[in-house]
Amino acid sequence: MPIPKAELHLHIEGTLEPELAFRLAARNGVTLPFDSVEDLRAAYSFGDLQSFLDLYYALTDVLRTEQDFTDLAEAYLARAQADGVRHAEIFFDPQAHTSRGIAFDTVARGLLAALDRSQDKYGVSTSLILSFLRDQSAESALETLAAAEPFLDRIIAVGLDSAEVGHPPSKFAAVYERARALGLRAVAHAGEEGPPDYIREALDVLGVERIDHGVRCLEDQELVDRLVRERIPLTVCPFSNVRLRVVDTLDKHPLRRMLDAGLVVTVNSDDPAYFGGYVHENLTATATAIGLTDDQIHTLARNSFEAAFLDDETRATYLAELDAHR
Ligand code: HPA
Ligand code: ZN
Repeated sequence: MPIPKAELHLHIEGTLEPELAFRLAARNGVTLPFDSVEDLRAAYSFGDLQSFLDLYYALTDVLRTEQDFTDLAEAYLARAQADGVRHAEIFFDPQAHTSRGIAFDTVARGLLAALDRSQDKYGVSTSLILSFLRDQSAESALETLAAAEPFLDRIIAVGLDSAEVGHPPSKFAAVYERARALGLRAVAHAGEEGPPDYIREALDVLGVERIDHGVRCLEDQELVDRLVRERIPLTVCPFSNVRLRVVDTLDKHPLRRMLDAGLVVTVNSDDPAYFGGYVHENLTATATAIGLTDDQIHTLARNSFEAAFLDDETRATYLAELDAHR
């Protein structure tokens, strides 16, 4: 049985497997610019973040109805259960859909139909993180937050993703302030392709409680010291870093250096359909490639529950289950 864990950095659109993409395309009468599942899979070779995002947004075209979003989330939850995931905080990108004429409510209702039964059906507790596309305008982010208001009981936090360089966190100060006023927590992608200063800005200007990726903090010792001192969790995604050329090869991944530095790191899958594996494989393959001890693997799982937006009682339950797993 895989070690119990929380997954905190997972884009639901990034769980769209080629087989499901073709099935939904057929159901919705959408023609994909690929002849077959194999042909599509062969396109999963990326030079950088943008080349991945181009395919990721193109494939969202098959997601049209509530049922499509439900099917997408169901497939992830079944996979997560098999991976030992007990709790998942799941990013969704509403603007990737509203910009195509799909209503926010269609996306949210579809995802929640699956998420609301996931505790009973899969033993996985869930919440949503509303993620703004940083390469769209600050006004568009504010409109997206307004559209989300009827669903705030199931949205735990706001996040920031998409093309990082040139779109610093400060661009979204107003929408994060509004989100906080609505009672939402805050995270942001920073320091994936963008510089260490974007991590600082996410903390100081947006007030985030976790940093997604954050691997480029290692270029700035003063920042590392601060992240350690303030125990700011970093949701690291090793397969993603390799596939998007943030890191050359898995055996060169800095995860162990990050652990040794005292950073609160967690392991996550980001966009598992695109990057070659789900969360447990990210953990085990990385552990093998860089030589992590069982204690370090346990620490990563512990960090995932400690970094999660859980109430104290639920967190304690999960941590007890993790300790019993040894
Ligand atoms: N980075 C930025 N945007 C994204 C990612 C990511 O890793 N995955 C999906 N959108
Ligand atoms: Zn991500």
